[in-house]
Amino acid sequence: MRILTGIQPSGKLHWGNYFGAMKSMFDLQAKGEDMFMFIANFHAMTTVRDGAMLREATREVALDYLACGLHPAKTVVYRQSDVPEVQELAWYLSCLTPMGLLERCHSYKDKMAHGFEATHGLFAYPVLMAADILLHRADKVPVGKDQEQNMEMARKCARRFNNIYGVEFFPEPQNYYFGGDAIKVPGLDGSGKMGKSEGEGNAIFLAEDDASIRKKVMRAKTDSGPTEMNQEKPEPIANLFQLMSIVSKPETVQFFDDAYNNMTIRYGDMKKQLAEDMIQFVTPIREKIREIDANDEYINKVARMGAEKARESARKTIKEVREIIGFKPF
Ligand code: ADP
Ligand code: TRP
Repeated sequence: MRILTGIQPSGKLHWGNYFGAMKSMFDLQAKGEDMFMFIANFHAMTTVRDGAMLREATREVALDYLACGLHPAKTVVYRQSDVPEVQELAWYLSCLTPMGLLERCHSYKDKMAHGFEATHGLFAYPVLMAADILLHRADKVPVGKDQEQNMEMARKCARRFNNIYGVEFFPEPQNYYFGGDAIKVPGLDGSGKMGKSEGEGNAIFLAEDDASIRKKVMRAKTDSGPTEMNQEKPEPIANLFQLMSIVSKPETVQFFDDAYNNMTIRYGDMKKQLAEDMIQFVTPIREKIREIDANDEYINKVARMGAEKARESARKTIKEVREIIGFKPF
């Protein structure tokens, strides 16, 4: 079984990304699974046209992953732009993808509704994503719920290629859902989900400094306190407890839970404790990020190594695809 995932280089990663996805990826890596992970900088070009910004965002994502436990000798990690073979496969798939299918995709319509220019790249985004996956003939793809439609497109591409050319070459890639350990991380604004686009103050980033963590946590949404003993917690309060259960000792959570139940809780004290426990958790990660950030030689070595391995796998697929579609010597 081969697992592959792509990450959009859209800025720093937050705690939701860490506990909801990255950590589970590292568990799979530790189990010795066959894994590919790449930074989708070709895809990012559908919305970002500033080269320096894109390079910086790509680097930030790479730093975050490496600092958190991505092991470049175990997982094939690369930049999409270092493996140009994906563009060739994207063309072949493009020629098999009916316009009607692409016209029905939400992501394209959503982006246009948000004011992005309607480009061919944006329109063809799902085909490039299918190519990313099929290029390494991946079986499982860990992605969020919002990627459901793109995954369906990747399956359709695989199926159509196999049917049209009468082969069983591409496996139909399945969504991979992390079991037990993946946690849904709530936001600080009382919303159910921490997310980078949910508004200022909702998300805490892995690389965030102490002062900023304290400020955001102290401003997290609460209410005026419980009005009855053993009352059920409203969402913003349940969220704080959920965050605390991720980073704090069970005794600490229990202490504030008891205080909530007997109505003596002071949210200010709870937030102070939560902020300190978050800082303690994230300190070694931040240090690691800084350490790697200062070592261009290492980063470039990782990039080269990943690109080599990914291209080897890509060339193998492309060679076979060319034979299947009939590109042979005259
Ligand atoms: P965002 O919501 O900030 O835009 P993405 O959609 O880029 O984040 O998510 C990347 C990965 O991180 C996905 O696998 C997604 O399921 C996971 N993820 C994002 N936010 C959370 C969260 N609050 N809790 C759990 N997992 C999350
Ligand atoms: N579309 C994905 C996202 O926005 C990123 C992505 C691009 C991807 N290519 C991929 C994810 C291939 C998984 C597999 O999150």
